[in-house]
Amino acid sequence: TYKACLFDLDGVLVDTAIYHFQAWKMLGENFNYQLTEEQNEQLKGVSRVESLNRILDWANYSATSEQKEAWLIEKNENYLQLISTMNPAEILPGVLDFLGQIKELGYKIALGSASKNSEVILTKTGLLPWFDLIIDGNKVTKSKPDPEVFLKGAEGLGFKPEECIVFEDAQAGVEAAKKGGMKAIGIGEADVLSEADKVIPTFFGVKATELLKF
Ligand code: G6P
Ligand code: MG
Repeated sequence: TYKACLFDLDGVLVDTAIYHFQAWKMLGENFNYQLTEEQNEQLKGVSRVESLNRILDWANYSATSEQKEAWLIEKNENYLQLISTMNPAEILPGVLDFLGQIKELGYKIALGSASKNSEVILTKTGLLPWFDLIIDGNKVTKSKPDPEVFLKGAEGLGFKPEECIVFEDAQAGVEAAKKGGMKAIGIGEADVLSEADKVIPTFFGVKATELLKF
């Protein structure tokens, strides 16, 4: 039986995926590169430094490590600016209701995000108190699709991977969950998240007892 739910942050609980996209697009202007939505899909769940490497790769741009350091800072400054006014209204539809249902059912709740900005986002949106454990980009060394972030979540809560269900909007995140031996529920489009065990468009109107039945 399942004991814990591990949630990705960006694009699952809050709509920060759009801010990451904007911040990367702004950064790309430095080297005349226009990031597409399709490419952005491949950056979801991927760490900041790995995202920059991929973008530079697509742009065929070879940057020095000093230049990369400066661009990582610039991207994050763009991003922090964009999220500075975030508030509870930016929690995605149905999320609070779903969290309430699973808490009531006795599931433990953890965050499994690649972001180093998770605390500020959880604080600004008021989501922080829901979590028994937070594993984020400050606690892991390997980017999704490596399962490290979710394995640390399971371990930190004291459960086996088979007892955990992961919620993800990213291809890399679904892959990480499956590699870790967990169930994966995709939030988004079924054709994009085809490796997930189940896919729902959003949490809106979702009945936890039905969704968590496998
Ligand atoms: C999440 C997002 C990615 C982002 C990564 C690092 O996984 O889906 O788009 O690049 O976190 O976020 P950070 O806030 O540390 O730059
Ligand atoms: Mg995400």
